[in-house]
Amino acid sequence: MSILSPYLSRARQAVVSRHVRGSVLDIGCQHGQLYDMLRPQISRYAGVDLDADAIQTARQKHRDCDFRVINIDDEPLGFESEFDTVVMMAVIEHIFNLKSVGQSLARALKPGGVVLVTTPTPFGNDIVHPVGVALGLFSRAAGDDHIAIFNRRRLEIFAHEIGLVLKSHRTFQFGCNQLAILQKP
Ligand SMILES: C[S@@+](CC[C@H](N)C(=O)[O-])C[C@H]1O[C@@H](n2cnc3c(N)ncnc32)[C@H](O)[C@@H]1O
Repeated sequence: MSILSPYLSRARQAVVSRHVRGSVLDIGCQHGQLYDMLRPQISRYAGVDLDADAIQTARQKHRDCDFRVINIDDEPLGFESEFDTVVMMAVIEHIFNLKSVGQSLARALKPGGVVLVTTPTPFGNDIVHPVGVALGLFSRAAGDDHIAIFNRRRLEIFAHEIGLVLKSHRTFQFGCNQLAILQKP
């Protein structure tokens, strides 16, 4: 983890939380830290992560939530039309099987529900991150783990492939990060 990781995670949460409502599924939830911020504004929170230790910590912190150890790349999510909001912050760039993962996210949504995706921009990933690594601000491993980097058009195509519509797109953190809102018709 880099010295900036907690700051970057909180900044993502602040941007995403403005668009969250109702019942929420957090993909790559880690310790369930997003729930601390969302608690007053939502009706239900479930989180999944492949990291069993992180999920154990999440369960100890938040006994009123549903946390599951799932590798979304090769295991079914098992939710059907249950959520108003699916959050995927800093996760999509780690996914191999994008289409099947996207389809299970879409299935988990109620009609009208949204997937909130944050992911580094090509500028953030390919230019700013290597400079940050050289300065000792970011961990090299964080960038090396990224499999797929998206621009706006690629996020739009991803939405289309899984039966969703790109409702809005914006960059933040000085153009290094982006939020895409994908809606289920
Ligand atoms: C960079 S962290 C982001 C954590 C949190 N969402 C945030 O924004 O602070 C990525 C998280 O996604 C999880 N993750 C990565 N690939 C995954 C997969 N295939 N299935 C489930 N979780 C995954 C990791 O274990 C990690 O907790």
